[in-house]
Amino acid sequence: MSTGRIWMLNCWHVAAFSSELKRELMPRRLLDEAIVLYRDVDGAPVAMQDRCPHRLVPLSMGRLGGTLLHCGYHGMAFDREGACKFVPAQKRIPGGATVRTYPVVDRHDMVWIWMGAKELADVELIPDVHWMSHPGWASVSGYKHMACDYRLVNDNLLDLSHEAFVHQGTIGNGAGAEELPKVYCEGNRIIYAHREMPDIDPPPFFARVIGHSRRINRWQTAVYMPPGLNMTEAGAHEAGTPRNRASVWRVFHMITPETQATTHYFWVMARNFRLDDPELDAEIAAGVSATFDEDKLVLELQMQALAVERPATFPSVALMVDEAPVRARRMLAKQIEREREDDQAVFVPEPLGKEPYGSPFVTIDDS
Ligand code: FES
Ligand SMILES: [Fe+2]
Repeated sequence: MSTGRIWMLNCWHVAAFSSELKRELMPRRLLDEAIVLYRDVDGAPVAMQDRCPHRLVPLSMGRLGGTLLHCGYHGMAFDREGACKFVPAQKRIPGGATVRTYPVVDRHDMVWIWMGAKELADVELIPDVHWMSHPGWASVSGYKHMACDYRLVNDNLLDLSHEAFVHQGTIGNGAGAEELPKVYCEGNRIIYAHREMPDIDPPPFFARVIGHSRRINRWQTAVYMPPGLNMTEAGAHEAGTPRNRASVWRVFHMITPETQATTHYFWVMARNFRLDDPELDAEIAAGVSATFDEDKLVLELQMQALAVERPATFPSVALMVDEAPVRARRMLAKQIEREREDDQAVFVPEPLGKEPYGSPFVTIDDS
């Protein structure tokens, strides 16, 4: 596996759910940098390096007072641009008394941070995930901390085949294990890895959510955009009924590296059915969490083995089911390489040509 930087910088990463940021200091490590997050008096999100320029203690140990963040050690105070505005017991603000800040934006109920060259941050590049906060969709969200390289989480989300084995107790029941997903890529995105699972018994989670145990037609689609946006669409309808009657859900997985070996996993599941149903919300939150715990177990064990063995190539044996994960890694590696050669290189999704069936980002008009 490659050494060196394993993530992109000139792009938006998810730093937090918007609801997490308050008028209090919240430390969080992102891309192996210590950051402190908070909201200013006007509600604007702020992201600053969590390090006082005086004696390097974390600013998150300090306090907010009006528009200033006061260091908890000697009381230097900084505004949201990171400029020092006050030093106790002296009038002169010394040179170098600034803190690095990062562009940070609330959109679709998430806080997005730009950790690369500040002047390149363009809010238009925040991915369109409006289903997460759109009134036509009901959503449930959650978070998991993963003790693994974030790329393993991407791999796993693009690998539909593991469901039949890992998720037998939740979203899988062994159906589809012999079906190879169709993979379609354009430019620097995985437009879809897709498979149909007609006339199957509903897996446990589906039976509960749909509310019956009759046989279903089901489909599954994974979409990926570097660095860490994955979406999984699942649809199910009773076998013999038309497809447009399907219950559809889209799970947005926003994967942000914490360190080289740990990951923040933010997820939002948006559904187009039983919109106002708090009982179902609770059921989904528990079901999704249990499902992702099954992934977490496999991924963390994989990470432990990788840390010991450090294989030159990975996966060590090439299987057909790895097509989408392998192609996604190539897209990611290509962009990281571009940034290495030119620190002004920005990830811009390439425009899509034809509109193939199966990509919810492309073909389904349900805004
Ligand atoms: S360490 Fe922050 S003011 Fe001294
Ligand atoms: Fe999984």
